[in-house]
Amino acid sequence: MKKVVIVGCGLRLLAFAKALKNTYSRTHHLAALMDIDPGKMRGFARWMELDVPLYTDFDRMCEEIAPDLVIIGTVDVFHAEYIRRALDKKIGVISEKPLCVNREQCLEIREACRRNPEVFAVTSHNSRYRPVAQTLKKLLDAGTVGKVLSLEYHEMLDRVHGKSYFRRWNSRRKYSNGLELHKSSHHFDKMNFLLNSRAVEVSAAGGLLAYGAKAPHKYEGIHCHNCPHKDVCPDFFAYEKKLFDSDMYTPDMCIWSPEIDIEDTFSASILFENGVRASYSLCAYADYEGEIINIQGTTGRLEARQLTYKSNVDDVHNMTSVPVESIKLFRFGAKEPEEMPIVRGEGAHGGADAKIFSELFAVPPAPSLPSIEDGIQAVLTGDALVRSIREKRTVRVQTED
Ligand SMILES: NC(=O)c1ccc[n+]([C@@H]2O[C@H](COP(=O)([O-])OP(=O)(O)OC[C@H]3O[C@@H](n4cnc5c(N)ncnc54)[C@H](O)[C@@H]3O)[C@@H](O)[C@H]2O)c1
Repeated sequence: MKKVVIVGCGLRLLAFAKALKNTYSRTHHLAALMDIDPGKMRGFARWMELDVPLYTDFDRMCEEIAPDLVIIGTVDVFHAEYIRRALDKKIGVISEKPLCVNREQCLEIREACRRNPEVFAVTSHNSRYRPVAQTLKKLLDAGTVGKVLSLEYHEMLDRVHGKSYFRRWNSRRKYSNGLELHKSSHHFDKMNFLLNSRAVEVSAAGGLLAYGAKAPHKYEGIHCHNCPHKDVCPDFFAYEKKLFDSDMYTPDMCIWSPEIDIEDTFSASILFENGVRASYSLCAYADYEGEIINIQGTTGRLEARQLTYKSNVDDVHNMTSVPVESIKLFRFGAKEPEEMPIVRGEGAHGGADAKIFSELFAVPPAPSLPSIEDGIQAVLTGDALVRSIREKRTVRVQTED
């Protein structure tokens, strides 16, 4: 029986706690929770009906519980510190994405892995487990379109999901380093996975166009729950109080705050080590949610869609909505495109969670899991986008310049 602890009792790790409790309890025992916010931790334990010790001190928890595995799902900027501390204590690590928030933290994590090569450590890049990505991967690896030349990747966050990032800590650079890391690390990992490569050069542009000080009305406040405009503001948001039993942090920050300092719109040109050229974009203020991925090869083209048209305020992360998915194969010389079958998954994130959990909590864990280096590569690309936008120049991804 593996002893598992959770660090960061937020929305994301609820799914892990549920899986451990309901599906993997014969092999894994969820032994404790840790968070700097006792209220969040209490809400989490109550929601999940967990009767386990709650800690605010990581070292103390590790001493008293002696866990085999720590699952890290804190605010992004703190992942690196817990990864390093766990590895140096010889405790296995599952870290949520983004693995960390910048290049310096990547190097620190690489060093910690070098010091502790025998310790299990992976990045929970679940997005590559989505049915569309898995199907594309099979088609590409089978050479269906020949050698890949170029890729287009467009991410749309609808105005329910998109706004959710601007109501929370994600919208402050010091915690997330921007959606280029927090959100796009999913996509950069998926590109690397599909192309069997890594990014070497990035040229990007972007800005804060829709949220923050760009308010279309003057109902700016600090938090919705005590805002003087709460009865009139069209963007009033009521959060789930049972989960946020906290005085420290509530996820209803004003989306029109002038303190928001990340981009909501950006695009990039990315060169990969194997010569593939990609264009990438993210828009956090779109009408609908989803991804468009087009891949041009030497003998054909794949066009994939993973879209969700119906926003639901009670399901800001589109966890339960069923996406409209399709992959078309255009073979050179063929009159019509062929519709490629996609094997649909069940459950959150289009079935991706169930699939990655089955690998994470297999005994032993599956060797195909996204590695720490995979997590590092996604962060290096995101960090390069941020630097390229800020410095208005092409940035090398694998080196300092
Ligand atoms: N893979 C996915 O599909 C997916 C989806 C959502 C979020 N995530 C990731 O999961 C992580 C958590 O996101 P969330 O939406 O649950 O956020 P959240 O705000 O709900 O939870 C974060 C938790 O971390 C705690 N925390 C903050 N600083 C800490 C520290 N120094 N030490 C310990 N705990 C600390 C907070 O109190 C909070 O309880 C993020 O890294 C995010 O990128 C991944």
